[in-house]
Amino acid sequence: MKVLVIGSGAREHAMVHALRRSSSVEEIYAAPGNPGIGQAADLLPISVDDLPALAEAASDLRIDLTVVGPELPLALGIGDDFARCGLRLFGPNQRAAELESSKVFAKEFCQRNGIPAPEAEVVGSRDEAVVAARRLGLPVVLKADGLAAGKGVLVVKDEDDLEQALTVFFEERRFGDAGDRVLVERFLVGEELSFMVISDGHTFVPLATSHDYKRALDGDRGPNTGGMGSHSPAVLPSGTGKEVVDRIIRPAIAAMEAEGRPYCGVLYAGLMLTEDGPQLLEFNCRLGDPEAQSILLRLEDDFGLVLRDAADGRLARKAFNWRREAVACVVLASRGYPGSIHRGDVIHGVEEALALPRVTVYHAGTALDNEGRLVTAGGRVLSVCGRGANLGEALTVAYEGVEKIHFEGMQYRTDIGVDSLALLGGA
Ligand code: GLY
Repeated sequence: MKVLVIGSGAREHAMVHALRRSSSVEEIYAAPGNPGIGQAADLLPISVDDLPALAEAASDLRIDLTVVGPELPLALGIGDDFARCGLRLFGPNQRAAELESSKVFAKEFCQRNGIPAPEAEVVGSRDEAVVAARRLGLPVVLKADGLAAGKGVLVVKDEDDLEQALTVFFEERRFGDAGDRVLVERFLVGEELSFMVISDGHTFVPLATSHDYKRALDGDRGPNTGGMGSHSPAVLPSGTGKEVVDRIIRPAIAAMEAEGRPYCGVLYAGLMLTEDGPQLLEFNCRLGDPEAQSILLRLEDDFGLVLRDAADGRLARKAFNWRREAVACVVLASRGYPGSIHRGDVIHGVEEALALPRVTVYHAGTALDNEGRLVTAGGRVLSVCGRGANLGEALTVAYEGVEKIHFEGMQYRTDIGVDSLALLGGA
């Protein structure tokens, strides 16, 4: 097959890497990709939101399968455009992608289908938000309805936070139209878990479990980020996966089909494990980043065939095959991330890290400067992954890789996986 991967992050680099290991895949293109992806795929200089140009390229190059990494093109309707052109694409169409692109749709979908999720109210003004927050009682979570590059969620713990959040949403209008409607949601306490499946619209197969570290700083402190590290498998109480499938995933896939929006693609459930069982915090319509980096390194199956079968609505298997080892991923970020970042710092040591056994480095915000040097070009710059017989070993390998790499202002968490190791008793 000829495959086109859309996106330019470390998640997409991991997808390209998994496709390279697939015997069904002969040629890989990526749009727009990044310098790391460019070592494994032919790059097309087309942005992820230029849907006509992407369809034209897929058609001209006779691409057999297009795989979408980020949510934006899915929310814009790339699935529908490609279907109209007779092009095979893995990812939900626009109406199905509303599970991520409209938090209000997702909440109402859960309510009408009995999918456990925290109580919430939809508001459109400061006054309505205050009334909702008073009724639910602080703390609450305020969520922009639309896509806000992962930044449209604010946790409100006290009256000061509430005042600040109301200013952000209704006066600064920081999230633009995406914040026209806002969910005011009850705050839940528990362990967070990301659980992903691949669905063909009717049936689904779970991906390996993973743990994501969203806060910028060690000890789960500091601002929320896209994710500063991950490991797979996650350390979970036994039976959790079955409970999540039975209470959330299966009802969601069935209800989407029943509502005339069959869901084909990766369904990502962001969950809180509470005393009352798993509760759905959010759906995403794509692989998590950096969860994908850890998960896909463990996949033994032909990723190209899995995605092709799902896109064709015939995912005829019960489970995927996973390497019986652990993978840990540490994200190296630019100075200033997740705030305003510094670009153009020269990155040293990637080749040295890659020379280590069981280390893989995925590129995200990297570029080549006009002297051909690898430089920083985004918030999250590299994902350094280590494989090991167990989580402890995988973490050691990943951090050995991290030690080889350096750029001015480089920041990363030094405690990825430490909480999980404690649960395992230091394995
Ligand atoms: N790591 C969180 C996400 O991809 O949404």
